[in-house]
Amino acid sequence: MKINPAKSFAALFIIASSLAVSCSKNTTNTSGLYVPTNADTTANATLQELQQGRVLYIDHCADCHSLYSPDDYSANQWPQVLSSMAPRAGLSSANTLLVKKYLTKGK
Ligand code: HEC
Repeated sequence: MKINPAKSFAALFIIASSLAVSCSKNTTNTSGLYVPTNADTTANATLQELQQGRVLYIDHCADCHSLYSPDDYSANQWPQVLSSMAPRAGLSSANTLLVKKYLTKGK
């Protein structure tokens, strides 16, 4: 069988672009994910910080698995989870702190 280079290139291109779409498409349903309100602010976290943390969490933590609820782990457990996950998510230390504030509800 003779391989047509143009055709095989086209096939490769289609496979590559569909992979790119499946990786970048954010199909995460975040409607049930805890949304901070003024009542959640603490001495350690302003409402703005909690909201920024939520956005960063949604944007960086759903690439490899679905999003966990903040209630899935305790305020003592989240920092341990983040110490292994934040580097995988490529979060800076400042942004990791915001995500931590969101996940621990301002602790
Ligand atoms: C590069 C892929 C990747 C990214 C990005 C990622 N995770 Fe994970 N996560 C994993 C894998 C793989 C596991 C399975 C357990 C392991 O390998 O440690 C996991 C497990 C978890 C668990 C369960 C931990 C346990 O002990 O069972 C939590 C909670 C979690 N991730 C939270 C996060 C948070 C929060 C972020 C964003 C800061 C994040 N993940 C970003 C790959 C990722």
